[in-house]
Amino acid sequence: MPTKIVIGAQWGDEGKAKVVDYLTLKADVVVRYQGGANAGHTVIVGDTEFVFHMIPSGIMHEDKACVVGNGVVIDPEAMLAEIDDLEGKGFSVAGRFFVSHIAHMVMPYHKALEKASEESKDGVKIGTTGRGIGPAYRDKVERTHGVRVMDLLDPARLRDKLRASINAKNEILTKVYGQDPLDVGPILDAYVGYGERLAPYVTDASVYLNQAIDQGKQVLFEGAQGTLLDIDHGTYPYVTSSNTTAGGACTGTGIGPTRIDEVIGVTKAYTTRVGNGPFPTELLGEEGERLRSLGHEFGATTGRARRCGWFDAAILRASSRINGLTSIALTRLDILDELESLKLGIGYRYGEQVLEEFPSDPQVLEQCEPIYEEMEGWLAPTTEARRFDDLPPQAQAYVKRVSELSRAPVSLISVGPERESTIDID
Ligand code: IMO
Ligand code: MG
Repeated sequence: MPTKIVIGAQWGDEGKAKVVDYLTLKADVVVRYQGGANAGHTVIVGDTEFVFHMIPSGIMHEDKACVVGNGVVIDPEAMLAEIDDLEGKGFSVAGRFFVSHIAHMVMPYHKALEKASEESKDGVKIGTTGRGIGPAYRDKVERTHGVRVMDLLDPARLRDKLRASINAKNEILTKVYGQDPLDVGPILDAYVGYGERLAPYVTDASVYLNQAIDQGKQVLFEGAQGTLLDIDHGTYPYVTSSNTTAGGACTGTGIGPTRIDEVIGVTKAYTTRVGNGPFPTELLGEEGERLRSLGHEFGATTGRARRCGWFDAAILRASSRINGLTSIALTRLDILDELESLKLGIGYRYGEQVLEEFPSDPQVLEQCEPIYEEMEGWLAPTTEARRFDDLPPQAQAYVKRVSELSRAPVSLISVGPERESTIDID
């Protein structure tokens, strides 16, 4: 039974949750391995829309298990709110939802520090989601003040850790940012309470997942964010603080790379980005507005308007290379239905040079002008298509060109938000 990783191939919001929800039909276990409540994964089942920030999107399938791995930074308040929401809508998670005992926690001071940093006059403004992601990973990597899931289950240990940590954070909050200090008491009480409620789900996720694979179960890894938001391979510093790329699935769960069979890169048929940072094929003005309104491109986590632009094949080639993509899932093809003509970015002009590869130097990227190829639009609805041959010829040509330029075959095409609106080429 193949083990599959689903990753975002662009800057996030590619429609990963829809693809994961569809692939979960054939899977047994769905796993999140990095990021935290910065993710906004939307699944539509019938008339109901669910947006998941912490829990794997596969949770809607009642016979499947869902795991949150060690690489995720857990916001327990957000996680418990999602559990309550699911149970309120009749989806039980007991006995099939698991959280790694060694995952790190997002604490209130992480959010306070992030807000203060983003609002301060000095330093880079990332345009984060405000979920405390960067400061939580900083504590993990710095090692002195990281709080893990296992600490929540031991109130005495948690109290000692929080006292030390909050003392240190208050120094920064008050002296660097001129903010009020935080109290240990209420934070400790809240997190002891979260620990009690999360305790039934806590497990050694590496043991659980390796046993599942040994038993021939199909495990699906659900990436959050996208390749260009990866802390190492993305458009640094305008990135998130985790490895969003396929390698993160191993380090973020405790399985070995030899256990992975497929890596599926999810990409929109165009490009979007939220937050700051370079975006060569961005459409400013009316064209960008049109794409934004056709695609309802507003963030699922923060509600911010997403920046929109043409498909950029150089990004997909980088994604293909960094993640070792075995195939592409092309989403939101239907959003292009009304456009008379389409542009595809095939590379960049940088001064006198022509670049085929996505540049990793942000200063170079800032000065890159995309080189476009133009294709005819299909001006016909595609949402009812269920087989590749159902697509208008111009749409077929577009998909084929995307695949060719991206150097990966297309295994799935999404032509609408519902589970059924999917063309399964495999
Ligand atoms: P999903 O999983 C799109 C962006 C933020 C910001 C940068 C850093 O729904 O695709 P952070 O809060 O992570 O420190 O913000 O990353 N970002 C996302 N953009 N989709 C996401 O998640 C994102 N998660 C973070 O806008 O530019
Ligand atoms: Mg999102």
